[in-house]
Amino acid sequence: MTTNSAEPTINEVAAYWNRRPCNVRHSPREVGSREYFDEVEERKYFVEPHIPGFADFARWKGKRVLEIGCGIGTDAVNFVRAGAQYSAIELSAESLALTRRRFETYGLEGNLVLGNAEQLDQLFSAEQFDLVYSFGVIHHTPRPRAVIDAARRVIRPDGEFRFMLYARNSWKALMIEAGLDQPEAQFGCPIALTFTEDDVRQLLDGAFRIEAVTQDHIFPYVIEKYVKYEYEVQPWFRAMPQEMFAALQSRLGWHLMIKALPV
Ligand SMILES: C[S@@+](CC[C@H](N)C(=O)[O-])C[C@H]1O[C@@H](n2cnc3c(N)ncnc32)[C@H](O)[C@@H]1O
Repeated sequence: MTTNSAEPTINEVAAYWNRRPCNVRHSPREVGSREYFDEVEERKYFVEPHIPGFADFARWKGKRVLEIGCGIGTDAVNFVRAGAQYSAIELSAESLALTRRRFETYGLEGNLVLGNAEQLDQLFSAEQFDLVYSFGVIHHTPRPRAVIDAARRVIRPDGEFRFMLYARNSWKALMIEAGLDQPEAQFGCPIALTFTEDDVRQLLDGAFRIEAVTQDHIFPYVIEKYVKYEYEVQPWFRAMPQEMFAALQSRLGWHLMIKALPV
């Protein structure tokens, strides 16, 4: 597990995500409009097509789901549309406001709570969730183990924990080390930890056991075009047969996706 900066505070983390909520530029349309939210979703699952399979929204129909770090709510609306009883905890007020607006826009219902997931067990009662889900969040918080402990308390004994952490052994981590990339779209992310599978095992120790780990996601597009909503694949990836790129993603993808069960 490695960190980018010396002991940033939770307030610095919140300020960073308030300045620019995650994926907020996924559409050039008026922020908060229905067209905007539709385009945000389209782009998110175009660029990260592994997410719906991992979240498996339909599986949680009628179940109680807690999302840690919903951001601007793309996965959130899909859990609710699939029939989940959905709650979320999100640190960034700006992000949560957009999720709230998104729920209103589509007439969806959920329990959306502003707060620090490191203390989520003070906001939700024990052993109530069938699924605790978190995509790309726990590596951004100062005390990841506190989130794990809190998640353990609110999950049902027969519940499941699905979450994504950034992978230490990844193409992206290599590029960041080489000074050729940065962890997030916005410069200066206060905390972006990376994990090996062994790190994940240690992180979960005594709270959850790993059921499955998969790795995916190498971002292949030319950034200068991507920010203009054009999708041109980098020439070095374009030259690869699809199976070769898929093999690379499954070994060196940035997203380490973990399914774990409480112990
Ligand atoms: C990379 S974004 C991911 C958002 C969303 N899961 C998605 O996939 O679009 C990280 C999110 O985690 C939230 N976050 C970071 N630390 C948190 C904490 N301690 N408690 C709750 N949310 C947190 C940030 O505010 C931000 O919205």
